[in-house]
Amino acid sequence: MSDLASLEERALAELSSCRDETALRAWHSRYFGKGGEMDAEIKKIVTVPKEERAAYGQQVNRVKQTLLQAHEQALAQEKDKALERSLTEGGVDVTLPGRPAPRGRLHLATRTLREIAAVFADLGFQIYRSREVEDDLTNFELLNMPPHHPARDMWDTFHTTTPGVLLRTHTSPGQIHVMREQAPEPIRVILPGMCYRYEAITTRSEIMFQQVEGLAIGTSITMADLKGTIVAFARRLFGEERQVRIRSSYFPFTEPSIEVDMDCIVCSGKGCGLCKRSGWLEIMGAGMVHPIVLQNGGYDPAKFSGFAFGMGPQRIAMLRYAIDDIRQFWKNDLRFLRQF
Ligand code: PHE
Repeated sequence: MSDLASLEERALAELSSCRDETALRAWHSRYFGKGGEMDAEIKKIVTVPKEERAAYGQQVNRVKQTLLQAHEQALAQEKDKALERSLTEGGVDVTLPGRPAPRGRLHLATRTLREIAAVFADLGFQIYRSREVEDDLTNFELLNMPPHHPARDMWDTFHTTTPGVLLRTHTSPGQIHVMREQAPEPIRVILPGMCYRYEAITTRSEIMFQQVEGLAIGTSITMADLKGTIVAFARRLFGEERQVRIRSSYFPFTEPSIEVDMDCIVCSGKGCGLCKRSGWLEIMGAGMVHPIVLQNGGYDPAKFSGFAFGMGPQRIAMLRYAIDDIRQFWKNDLRFLRQF
């Protein structure tokens, strides 16, 4: 018993001279670790003569509790002190300015798309989202391109391993989806989204890019409506003074088909590097919806007519911001993206 009392005294004295957490932990293993001094006292209980055993056991337990409690307290105090030390000596200068939190922003592609959508919203067009994985039927056939139609060559296609399933090469198949959903109601929608083409990647063409399709169907829609819509769009996006010109073209799903140019935003038509001395910039393909396509969409071509157009918002953004490489759009180079 007296051994125990002196052990307690010694242990407490040593504890109070521990100066840091490491010392405190060493103290703990010295007394309570395997083979430690208190550990030995506890094991001793069984060897004490029966009549003294209970009293000895109680005594050992009391010392054990006292020491463990004292240790716990010392450890907590040491942690508080360590924190205080690191705050006062440890170089936390609360007067230093904070680190600026970097602010995100919208990707140029998203911003351009939203600006285009806003212009068309003012003209009464709603947004319709159509799928990126399409079938051959909708991407080609229902758009008046039966299998083996030579015009299919205009769209180099990513096919999937499932026959007849492909990545859409343009947003035009969305026309079919809207028409079949809305017929025979009039339609005024734009269809923005990603398209895919199996092409060589260059500064001017990517294998993935966005398009914005436009579709208007009604009982008295004419080419004049198409032209008016395009002029309004070009002037809202590129300035009130913009001139628009229309060239004859060919798409299987429009008749007649046109391509639309706008006078060059740099030289206003005089001829410069951007417009390759022509004075004009191509902004979209368009035309009057082909009677066969109207029919495939569920509209009677004798009663209904419509116009459609398709443009590449990446091309539009490249013109507006003089971007010379379309690959910048999906590179995620922050030095490029932060400029917008
Ligand atoms: N889908 C055509 C293309 O990808 C563009 C277009 C859309 C042309 C609608 C006419 C009408 O080139």
